[in-house]
Amino acid sequence: MFPSIKLRADTNDRSPILLTKNKLYLSSGDLENIHRVVAEAYDTIAPRYHSLFALNPTATRTRYTQQLVDALGPDSAVLELGCGGGPGTQPFVARGCRITGVDISAAQIALARTHLPNATLVHGDMRTVSLPPASFDAVVAMYSIVHLRKEDQEAMVTKIAGWLKGGGYLLCNLAGGEASTSTGKWLGADTFFESLGVEGNRKMLMEYGEGLQVIRDEVIVDKYDPVAADAIGATDETFHWIFAVKRDISE
Ligand SMILES: C[S@@+](CC[C@H](N)C(=O)[O-])C[C@H]1O[C@@H](n2cnc3c(N)ncnc32)[C@H](O)[C@@H]1O
Repeated sequence: MFPSIKLRADTNDRSPILLTKNKLYLSSGDLENIHRVVAEAYDTIAPRYHSLFALNPTATRTRYTQQLVDALGPDSAVLELGCGGGPGTQPFVARGCRITGVDISAAQIALARTHLPNATLVHGDMRTVSLPPASFDAVVAMYSIVHLRKEDQEAMVTKIAGWLKGGGYLLCNLAGGEASTSTGKWLGADTFFESLGVEGNRKMLMEYGEGLQVIRDEVIVDKYDPVAADAIGATDETFHWIFAVKRDISE
């Protein structure tokens, strides 16, 4: 979804960033602002993101979502981090789950309010949101943790492990490919993306996800549909998919 390395300079995106292989190592000042930059990006692109991607899930996303839905009982408590506008959450709603969604973009939360009228929706930063420990049967984070810096991704994994009940599940995707810090235009808006690399992701889950046991780990390339591919100038995406369970210490 954010293959910054593959972004294409087109008539709207002629910044020097894009002409240097779409990669930029940011100054410390920029880094302090990245969450504001990401929030503003989604405030601008929410409707396009919604129609091009959220309503158009990849085969891999659909498969993993179904696996988690099948594993959950009705009335399960599901936390979605970087929930976006809500279409990806619908299968959990249909299962009868209680949804808590957190998103840093006001526009995404506004869309989610229309699609998830019964959900608890929080307009805020997943890094700082306060939630009760051991209170969720599942945490879902699709295409969202990748917007955090490495140390924040590590801290998120620790928080997620703490928010899950014993026996609860984590479904997320992290950046595939090599470790990198990237920015550039995506759907015409400035964005930020950090990859720990596949081995770095695995190390992070082991070191920071206390009690988490990874039960599925795949690096998958998915093709975009032609309209989405044309909009972002990339034909496919590579993500590292993780399905994990929190060990139940009472067992
Ligand atoms: C690519 S969209 C994915 C949305 C949704 N998960 C989906 O799969 O359709 C990434 C989302 O993460 C949100 N996001 C990025 N950084 C965030 C942060 N620090 N806290 C909360 N949400 C964040 C963005 O606002 C955006 O809605």
